[in-house]
Amino acid sequence: MEIITPIVVLSLISLILGILIVLADRFLADYGECKLIINDGAREYTVRGGSTILSYLSSNKIFIPSACGGKATCGLCKGRVLSDVGPVLPTERPFLDKEEFDNNTRLLCQVKVKKDTEILIPEEFFLVKEFRTTVEAITPLSHDTQMFRFKLEEPNEILFKPGQFVQFRIPKAGEERAYSIASSPNEKNIVELIVRLVPGGLCTTYMFNKLKVGDPIFLTGPYGDFYLREETDDPIICVAGGSGSAPIRSIINYLNEKKSERTIRSFYGGRTPKDIYLTEYYEGLAKILKDFKHIPAISEYTNVDEKSWTGERGLITEVIANHFEDLSEYEAYMCGPPIMIQKATELLIKLGINKDRVFFDEF
Ligand SMILES: Cc1cc2nc3c(=O)[nH]c(=O)nc-3n(C[C@H](O)[C@H](O)[C@H](O)COP(=O)(O)OP(=O)(O)OC[C@H]3O[C@@H](n4cnc5c(N)ncnc54)[C@H](O)[C@@H]3O)c2cc1C
Ligand code: FES
Repeated sequence: MEIITPIVVLSLISLILGILIVLADRFLADYGECKLIINDGAREYTVRGGSTILSYLSSNKIFIPSACGGKATCGLCKGRVLSDVGPVLPTERPFLDKEEFDNNTRLLCQVKVKKDTEILIPEEFFLVKEFRTTVEAITPLSHDTQMFRFKLEEPNEILFKPGQFVQFRIPKAGEERAYSIASSPNEKNIVELIVRLVPGGLCTTYMFNKLKVGDPIFLTGPYGDFYLREETDDPIICVAGGSGSAPIRSIINYLNEKKSERTIRSFYGGRTPKDIYLTEYYEGLAKILKDFKHIPAISEYTNVDEKSWTGERGLITEVIANHFEDLSEYEAYMCGPPIMIQKATELLIKLGINKDRVFFDEF
């Protein structure tokens, strides 16, 4: 008790001091007008200091990927900050590798502008647009997954590569979440998203419970370096799990429209039969595409009889391993939870695929 009491008192004092510093910074500090200089002066804005770089960029219609809405949980909002803006914060550390740490890469949602600040961001961010859209259709795909179709109003066309994502702005809340585009880039006037409900999740609860056909919605995009490579006609293996089927659908749709002759093997893993969807859709494509097979599999099958599930059984990595001995000619496109991506990458490399030809998005 004698030791615990001073520890508790000290912790309380530190907590109160911390709160006072945050409040003072928010309400009392006046950083005046500051310049935000982007890419060696390619763009320059005069801002009233005190907010994050991300918020100034977004209010000037420069849209940086920021799937968590500035909570430092997605790690997507990276840019290099050339001015001295103080040390890297503990919230940023988990997202920065050694090279990024050394070249002053920061999470732009965590760094505040308090004086003239110079930053470097990828040029392609200048191409990201904000789209005013209308919800055109909402289609249930499974017990917890729906497809949302948006018609683009202004601008009315989007240019993207199959595999990339957009951000959905939650009305009133203003926060954004990332969703891979499920439609083909040839359908320039629409964007389809495949969204899985996260119980208690802010955005998905809104989309499933409130969003209706005809509602106006803002999307920004396109974002991301996960997209179909078209330099070769090498065979492709696609692997999707959980809510990761959207970008793979976009890639396969696009290859179908282009009448591609590439060999395509598409694996989709769910836990039980009720998690599997779009099977008939892919079976239809298998009749048109020259060399395409879609292989859905379930991982929890002990109580599943032959009538309820005729497809493959096992973890998606086990199913892939049963299908291939050598993947050295292949390129891989994968999307799903981090653990699936990690295990599948290990397997594909073991089966001979070049690790530079393994592309993925994980979430
Ligand atoms: C590049 C990218 C592409 C994405 N594409 C898709 C897509 O095509 N379809 C899709 O459905 N989602 C996709 N996501 C995930 C999506 O951005 C949201 O994170 C997800 O929909 C949850 O948002 P929310 O606001 O409902 O939940 P939040 O309010 O953000 O989260 C609520 C709680 O749930 C946890 N949580 C968040 N996501 C998950 C999850 N997937 N499973 C379990 N727990 C979770 C959070 O840690 C938090 O504790 C993508 C993410 C990224 C980064
Ligand atoms: S917006 Fe997600 S980490 Fe910055």
